[in-house]
Amino acid sequence: TVVMKRQMKKSRRWAKAMAIVKEVEEKCETPIGKLRQVADAMAIDMHAGLASEGGSELKMIISYVDNLPSGNEEGLFYALDLGGTNFRVLRVHLGGREKGVISQEFEEVSIPPHLMTGSSHELFDYIAQALAKFVATESEDSHPLPSRKREIGFTFSFPVRQLSIASGTLIKWTKGFSIEDAVILPNFFCETNLCSNCSFQLIMTLRVYGLAVCFLMARVGQDVVGELTKALDRVGLDMHVAALVNDTIGTLARGRFYDPDVVAAVILGTGTNAAYVERTQAIPKWHSPVPKSGEMVINTEWGNFRSSHIPLTEYDHALDVESLNPGEQIFEKTISGMYLGEIVRRVLLRMAEEASFFGDNVPEKLRLPFILRTPVMSSMHHDTSPDLKIVDGKLKDVLEITHTSLKMRKVVVSLCEIVATRGARLSAGGIYSILKKIGRDTLKGDGEPRKAVIALDGGLFEHYTKFRTCMESTLQELVGEKVGKDIVIEHSNDGSGIGAALLAASHSKYLEA
Ligand code: GLC
Repeated sequence: TVVMKRQMKKSRRWAKAMAIVKEVEEKCETPIGKLRQVADAMAIDMHAGLASEGGSELKMIISYVDNLPSGNEEGLFYALDLGGTNFRVLRVHLGGREKGVISQEFEEVSIPPHLMTGSSHELFDYIAQALAKFVATESEDSHPLPSRKREIGFTFSFPVRQLSIASGTLIKWTKGFSIEDAVILPNFFCETNLCSNCSFQLIMTLRVYGLAVCFLMARVGQDVVGELTKALDRVGLDMHVAALVNDTIGTLARGRFYDPDVVAAVILGTGTNAAYVERTQAIPKWHSPVPKSGEMVINTEWGNFRSSHIPLTEYDHALDVESLNPGEQIFEKTISGMYLGEIVRRVLLRMAEEASFFGDNVPEKLRLPFILRTPVMSSMHHDTSPDLKIVDGKLKDVLEITHTSLKMRKVVVSLCEIVATRGARLSAGGIYSILKKIGRDTLKGDGEPRKAVIALDGGLFEHYTKFRTCMESTLQELVGEKVGKDIVIEHSNDGSGIGAALLAASHSKYLEA
C-alpha cells in the first residue's frame, strides 16, 4: 500500500502538472482568425500613430530618412550599434555601386549589467572608450581621407523622438535598460533637499521663494547624440555623428542597399520592432515640406503594441508587472528573445511549486528571474536526440535539476514549443499588418505583381530555427501563396550596424553620396 500510495501521489502530481501545461497551451493559442484580428488592430493603431503625435501606443516615429541608400555610397564610415546586451563598433569601407561593401570590421563588447541600470554618463563613457580603442586599430589604408573628419552612424535601438537625422531624444528605455539620470525634473518629493543625502541622483538644489526644490535627472528626454558626442570629447575622439538611427532603420537601409525591392525591416532579437517606407501623404503628423522622394521611413515601435486580441497568460501578466517597464511593450514581451525563456521559467516554477514537477523540493535556481535564457530554451526546443540529452544537460547546468525522466523532458520541450509558437505567429501577424498597411498583402488587379522584400535581422530570427520557420509558415498562411514568390523574407545580416554606416555616408557632412 505504501507503494500504491506513492504511485497515486505521483500520478496526481503529474495530472496537475499536465493541467498547468494544457492551460498555458490553450491560453497561448493563435488561430489564424485571431492573428488577422491582431493585424487589423495593429493597422488601426498605425493609422492613429501617423495621424498625431501620441495618437496611439504605436509611436510611428518619423526617422527623417526620406531616401534610403542608393548603392552609390562610398568611403570609410564607422557605426556604433547599441541596443541589446552587447554593443558593437564597426568600420565599413563602402565602394559605391560597383564594389558594394569592400570590407567591414567589427568588434563586439558586452555591456556589464550594472551599466544597463546605472548612470548614462558611465554607459556612454564605456562606449566611447571602446570606440576609441577600435579607432586606434585603423590601418594606414583604412584611414578616411585626411581632409575629413571620421563620421559615424549611431544605431540606438530604443524609442527616440527624432528631431533630425542626427539628433533625437530618448522617449523611454526598453529591454532591461533603465537608466535614470538626465532630463532635469523638479523633484518636489525629496524630503531632505540636500543633493548628497537623497536616494535620487540629485544634481542641484534651487531656492525658489525660500523653498528648496531639488532637481533630479532622468536620462529619458536628453539628446542622445549630444550625450555621445560629449562622451567622445571626454575620451578625446574627434568624430562627427552623421546619423542617429533605430536598428530597424539600419536594417532597412542595409537591405535596400543590396535589393531595391526591400520595403520593410523587422528585428526579432532581444526586442522586436519594425520599420517600413511610408508615403508622406499618408503621414498627417508630418508638417514639414514634402521630401523629393515623397517617402519617409517610419519606425513603428511595434513592441509597444497591445490589444485584447493578443493572447496573454497569467505568466505574462506577472512578468509584465515585475518588469522594469510594467504595462509597456506588451507585444514585445510575448515575442522577443529577452522574454521567451523567462516565460517558460515562470511556468516551470509554477509546475514545481504546485505539482512538485521536479520532486518534493522546488529547484532553487528556478526561482531566479531571467536565469533561463532564450538561447537555452532554443537548444532544448531543438533537441533531436532520442533521450533528449541536451534538455537533460541544460536542466542540470542552468537550473541544477539533476534527475528528470524522459517523459518530463518531453514536457519541457512542449512548453518551449508552445511559448515560441505564440511569439512566432504573433510576429507573422505584425508583418502581415505592415503588408496590409502598404497595400502589399494582396495581388493588385493591375497585372504586374510587385515584389515586396522584408529584411529581417536579430538573434532570435538568426538562431532560433523553429521560431523562424514557424514565423515564415504563418506568414504564408496569412497571405497565401505569395510568400517566397512576390513576398520574400530576407536575412539582412549585420543590418543595424552596416545600415547605420550607410546612412552616415548618405548624410555625410563631408561627402556628396
Ligand atoms: C525595442 C526597442 C526598439 C528596437 C527593438 C529591437 O523594442 O524599443 O527601438 O528597435 O527593441 O531591438
